[in-house]
Amino acid sequence: MKNVIESNHPLIEHKLSILRDKNTSTKEFRELVKEISMILCYEAMRDAKLDEIQIETPIKKMKTHRLNEDHYAFIPILRAGLGMLDGVISVLPTAKVGHIGMYRDETTYEPINYFFKVPDGIENREVFLLDPMLATGGSAIDAIDLLKKKGVEKIKFLCIISAPEGLKQVNKAYPDVPIYTACIDEKLNENKYIVPGLGDAGDRIFGTK
Ligand code: PRP
Ligand code: URA
Repeated sequence: MKNVIESNHPLIEHKLSILRDKNTSTKEFRELVKEISMILCYEAMRDAKLDEIQIETPIKKMKTHRLNEDHYAFIPILRAGLGMLDGVISVLPTAKVGHIGMYRDETTYEPINYFFKVPDGIENREVFLLDPMLATGGSAIDAIDLLKKKGVEKIKFLCIISAPEGLKQVNKAYPDVPIYTACIDEKLNENKYIVPGLGDAGDRIFGTK
């Protein structure tokens, strides 16, 4: 699929195998979501632009390169996306953070938006949208819609597990938004859960069930 980047790193595969296991504790689940998100963030920043600067090492002056850290914003989709925030913030600690609140209606599977708060000047930043699960793609499409309406031009979507059905939908609606995913799973089941997936990411991160 165009503009879908699946990580095939052995470290990710190892961590995913523990994350998916139904016997993994809430504590370990959270730690793994954080670690996998850090690796996804590295992947998503592979094309980051650097500014040339001059510094002085204890030995001599040199030209080197730095990121413009004011260029970025992270936006987790509540609730489960919050679990990824710690990981990406540890990679880019000065990024601004917004929040989009969404849940899937249990019968229609349509996303319901209940919260939207983003940093001032968001239209001038590159936004990394965070959600561990991309199932039907409805939540991702609505979140991207909201950001585009705010004038955001550069968006990347970071998710841990995705379904081919949802990836196709997001790709069709927004071919310009790259999707970085740790793994593309087999399919959705009749309840629109990802198979084999990991169950309900929000419940497993927050221990609600
Ligand atoms: C989950 C997940 C995504 C959405 C994915 O959230 O974190 O936001 O479902 O499904 P979709 O691709 O079919 O839209 P959920 O509705 O369970 O809310 P939660 O994060 O509050 O648990
Ligand atoms: N949301 C989840 O948390 N898990 C799925 O498999 C699908 C949507």
